[in-house]
Amino acid sequence: MPETANREQSRRRRILTGDRPTGRLHLGHWVGSIQNRVRLQHEYETILIIADLHMLTTKRSRNDIREVLSNARGLVLDYLAAGIDYEKTTIYLQSAVAETFQLNTILQNLVTVNRLLRLPSLKQMAGAANIEEESFPLGLLGYPVLQAADILLAKAQLVPVGRDNLAHVEITREIARHFNNTYGEVFEEPEPLLSDIPALVGTDNRGKMSKSAGNAIYLSDDEKTVRAKVGSMFTDPKRIHPDIPGKVEGNPVFIYHQIFNDNRGEIEELEARYRAGKVGDREVKDRLADALERFLSPVRERADFFSNRPGLIDEIIWNGTLKVRQIAAETMREVHHKMGFDRVWKDLVPKGGGQG
Ligand code: TRP
Repeated sequence: MPETANREQSRRRRILTGDRPTGRLHLGHWVGSIQNRVRLQHEYETILIIADLHMLTTKRSRNDIREVLSNARGLVLDYLAAGIDYEKTTIYLQSAVAETFQLNTILQNLVTVNRLLRLPSLKQMAGAANIEEESFPLGLLGYPVLQAADILLAKAQLVPVGRDNLAHVEITREIARHFNNTYGEVFEEPEPLLSDIPALVGTDNRGKMSKSAGNAIYLSDDEKTVRAKVGSMFTDPKRIHPDIPGKVEGNPVFIYHQIFNDNRGEIEELEARYRAGKVGDREVKDRLADALERFLSPVRERADFFSNRPGLIDEIIWNGTLKVRQIAAETMREVHHKMGFDRVWKDLVPKGGGQG
């Protein structure tokens, strides 16, 4: 019995993905990645990384670091509230796995500066963080290499990412290949699992939902806040009166209805009446707020469950970190062996006759 259970375990393919601990999760995160992770955790052995070392590439003040733990706790609370099952999914803190730094240093030699300079994702991150060219940090250039270290350390076969991170998985594959060719087979080339869902538009209809744009509805927002945010959402600006026929396409209120309203009949009816100028924005928004409440109330219930058990979240992160430390130590033993460092260190140890 445990025999088959074990084989079952070892055959399950491993996923690594995660986030930098910079804030709470909103509906845009849920649409783009979280719902996918909740689904995948049943099929794969899932590891979620809280990438605080990646955070340092753009946010590195003493205060940013002081906030790592509270941000990590908030992030994990949101994961669990969204349906991540901590008995299935391992969650760990990147900076607490020292092997990450070790493998990163080795992998840095298996990719060229030129290759990294060509990545648009790094310039985008620099732009978003207001980093000028002359203050572009080496660590930011190395962002994808550090990500490769996370992925290869855990020997993940699958990496769910958004389009912006796809090139980082490609670089990880190149580095794995380069390592294997240079020192011998250690790494499988991981496959990206592209979540190609278009980014969720913000409540103000000005680009995608994000914390910095202030146009986000958070998984942790209470009912009153959600209703207020929905009430002030952007709709068809031409509709200054409920009897003016409105545009459904590209209207964020209807985009949200399509994603979050489980009552398909109601959506169709509202769309038809909107196009015909037979419903006010008020009602369309009230129905959306109701739908969001149906979506968010189980999320809030799970959040309450974990909020009422202080210590459980830290325990989840700590146990996950211990588990990843073990996996990482095993990988590094293999890496050091194939590279020949184990021999070097063994030969260094004084053989009898020495002092002490
Ligand atoms: N780069 C990811 C982000 O955009 C975070 C991350 C760090 C990651 N290491 C990873 C994602 C490994 C997938 C696999 O925040």
